[in-house]
Amino acid sequence: MSGRSCKGPFKILVLPGDGIGPEIIKEAVKVLKALGEKKGITFNFQYGLIGGAAIDETGVPLPEETVELGKQSDAILLGAVGGPKWDNLPPEIRPELGGLLKIRKVFDLYANLRPVMFFPELKNASPLKPEIIEGVDILMVRELTGGLYFGEKKRFTTEQGEQAVIDTLIYTEKEVERVVRLGFELAQKRRGKLTLVDKANVLESSRFWREITEEIKKEYPDVELSYMYVDNCAMQLIRNPRQFDVIVTENMFGDILTDEGAVLAGSIGLLPSASLNGKFGLYEPIHGSAPDIAGQNKANPLATILSAGMMLRYSLDCPEEALLIEKAVKAVLQKGYRTGDILEPGTALVTCEEMGDLVAEEILGGVYDEGLPL
Ligand code: IPM
Ligand code: MN
Repeated sequence: MSGRSCKGPFKILVLPGDGIGPEIIKEAVKVLKALGEKKGITFNFQYGLIGGAAIDETGVPLPEETVELGKQSDAILLGAVGGPKWDNLPPEIRPELGGLLKIRKVFDLYANLRPVMFFPELKNASPLKPEIIEGVDILMVRELTGGLYFGEKKRFTTEQGEQAVIDTLIYTEKEVERVVRLGFELAQKRRGKLTLVDKANVLESSRFWREITEEIKKEYPDVELSYMYVDNCAMQLIRNPRQFDVIVTENMFGDILTDEGAVLAGSIGLLPSASLNGKFGLYEPIHGSAPDIAGQNKANPLATILSAGMMLRYSLDCPEEALLIEKAVKAVLQKGYRTGDILEPGTALVTCEEMGDLVAEEILGGVYDEGLPL
């Protein structure tokens, strides 16, 4: 074992949010507690409000108290926000804009890492052919605090008296540089391939990204850089996804492509994410609050559990423990347990809570010792 210490005490701010958020978060916390028990790590969980839950209780989607708690924490673990109940509020106080986008901005979480992994156990859960998705291992890096989602938005009337609208796409040089640089660094630690996805045949902002990327590239001669238009990328992802290693792209393209990426893994219920600023990060599943199945104990908690794994890796310096969570998830899938979204003939349907129990038991059971290859 290395001399590194992954003991804590770690302060984790837990934000369950709305819809299935509280259910999936409960299972991720359960798994972290099991890990703490097994490995002697102290986690101090503090709970806060965000999204619709915060609106109902305090009138705003991101209370100041939540921000303060976040500042005192080592990392934030988030469930999901939003739901029909709050859909008709003015945009800036809706859970998505005033809660999720705002917390990303407040903590300047500019790099959103969304790994797309292939699970051999689930190769038939994806609508894509097994031979297409076999061996897929992509790290999508989405810029998260700039671009269209954060630019000025307004309605106005033209000189001809027609209603019109503007959404503004702004990126500064620094904003592009920091996320592209991270893309290069991550590629260096993986298979050494980076693809910048853009729409440089049309957009000035894309040409700006390319110029900056060309400059940074000089510092990473060992990384093979390529460019791809976003429309082509959408196609290539389902035609030949194995060609990708690390993808870096602006906010909206990344939002769209990562949902597409989820299909490669089998279900959006499996994809975790890390939103980072250096070591500090917010960890959340990429799926939303799924109001249609909320409160029914049938959501898939694995994306949130895997997000807790990413938290161990990126914010808490516990890479071996992160691997342990991933192995435990794999073991449970290998044994044939499935939530409804990934159920197939010959597998056993379990509830959200049972899935969390199974992963926790796998960790406590210690079947998967450190160093065991995945
Ligand atoms: C995501 C979500 C959010 C986003 C929404 C809920 C605002 O789709 O995390 O991908 O667009 O970033
Ligand atoms: Mn999205």
